[in-house]
Amino acid sequence: MKILSICGSPRQGNSETILIELQKLFKSKNIDNEIILLREKNIERCHGCVEFCNHRKVCRLNDDMQEIIDKMVEADAYVFISPNYFQMPTGLFKDFIDRSNIIFHRTDADLKNKKIIVISVGSDPPEDSTVCANNIANNYCRYIGKVVGIKTFQTHSELGGHLDDAFTSGQNPTIKDDLQSLTNLMI
Ligand SMILES: Cc1cc2nc3c(=O)[nH]c(=O)nc-3n(C[C@H](O)[C@H](O)[C@H](O)COP(=O)(O)O)c2cc1C
Repeated sequence: MKILSICGSPRQGNSETILIELQKLFKSKNIDNEIILLREKNIERCHGCVEFCNHRKVCRLNDDMQEIIDKMVEADAYVFISPNYFQMPTGLFKDFIDRSNIIFHRTDADLKNKKIIVISVGSDPPEDSTVCANNIANNYCRYIGKVVGIKTFQTHSELGGHLDDAFTSGQNPTIKDDLQSLTNLMI
């Protein structure tokens, strides 16, 4: 089984640390898990030229999205994580969402059976970040697979170098168990 994790934070912070922790849990179950940090990728914003992609079945933009789409087609499951920015995913994650539209032209993509976990982190109480996670789950993931888990964690917005803030701040006392439960949902 191959799981692709996609991180929508523009910085090294909570989202990335959570994905690394999840990766350790997946590896302990012999599950292959690759993490893609969108901030390290060259992803142009969608130009909206559907007259091109709808007919030619390819995107005219030549950047790192091509490789990401190939990895999405190949993977059995996804973990999507984005910080909550105003109850929405980050612009970086939204650009990824828009550009991934091209996957619907891939006849080799078995989209109905991809399992998906959606996680959002934010400095407001978790119910606020749940709006962001639900946005991703309800308005994007429903087109590309089956959401099996949604989770939010509370963070500090300023990390002061504490990249493991979500684990050590005391705001998410059950985070380790929560991540373990999420990995179990993928199996
Ligand atoms: C532009 C911007 C907008 C944000 N808006 C919200 C918000 O509406 N609600 C919230 O809970 N946190 C908000 N935050 C805080 C981030 O969600 C929080 O710092 C989160 O930990 C960032 O994730 P990261 O550590 O993975 O980068 C915002 C941060 C930024 C930079």
